[in-house]
Amino acid sequence: MLNGNLKLAIQKSGRLTEKSLQLLRTCGLDIENYSDRLLVSSRNFELDLLFLRDDDIPEYVQDGVADIGIVGENVVIEKEADVDTIKKLGYGKCTLMIAIPEDKNMLSLDELNGKRVATSYPKILANFFRNNKIDAKIIQISGSVEIAPSLGIADCICDIVSTGNTLKLNKLKKFTNVFDSEAILIGNKNFDKDSGKYAILKNLIVRIESALNAKTSKYLMMNVPKVALPRIREILPSLKSPTILPLADESMLAVHAVIPSDTFWDIQNDLHEAGASGLLLIPIENMIL
Ligand code: PRP
Ligand code: ZN
Repeated sequence: MLNGNLKLAIQKSGRLTEKSLQLLRTCGLDIENYSDRLLVSSRNFELDLLFLRDDDIPEYVQDGVADIGIVGENVVIEKEADVDTIKKLGYGKCTLMIAIPEDKNMLSLDELNGKRVATSYPKILANFFRNNKIDAKIIQISGSVEIAPSLGIADCICDIVSTGNTLKLNKLKKFTNVFDSEAILIGNKNFDKDSGKYAILKNLIVRIESALNAKTSKYLMMNVPKVALPRIREILPSLKSPTILPLADESMLAVHAVIPSDTFWDIQNDLHEAGASGLLLIPIENMIL
């Protein structure tokens, strides 16, 4: 499709698919139901979505088939793709880990020497072994790495762990972390900065940043006695100066503030003790700082 739209590649079906679509929708993009289609356009933004296997995304972006992509950092590093990392996206967090059968015990990294380790991440693992001076055999497998020990073709595995369910299901346990990863936005390196597409990309990045900021903030509203205002302001971890509004009862004020989401439960008691009442905590969808 040579329509001038920005082309964004995302995972066809997997851990990152729904969350990536959710992020784009929070950015105000109207995306039709993709079901089994390979390519979908946004109805209200100049963007085409390409649904690909995550392993293919770094190369497609490198070669310019897609302009940008959302994929796990682990995949980008493993593929040694020559792309720009535009932004970490804060979701899809997982760890590439070495895991061993539940009934085995290993105490130190040294015990990996001479072992057979099955993985779909041979380059990252080889690098880990090199850095730790470990001489182990890497068995490269493209999928379902977790069954390799029970098939007898490996002693341990090195694979992505997110919830840990896959390990548990296959009677494996964590041994050591190799690489922490999350979803990242990557871009083609030869982007023409004068092109219309680049303008679309800049617009999209502003929207993504706004959505990410909003996710970590909440809007707090409360009523406070006028005399308590200095103390209330001390307690508030406000991102900027709070909004203060008069109330019909002249001894009282309404205070509104944007606060980091995770601070609410730490401060609500202090606010209460300082005289605040009617606390309302409201989610924010977008926030441009
Ligand atoms: C990884 C890994 C496991 C699963 C682990 O696959 O290979 O299958 O996630 O997740 P859990 O700890 O929550 O059970 P990934 O999502 O990277 O996709 P892939 O199929 O492309 O390997
Ligand atoms: Zn994959």
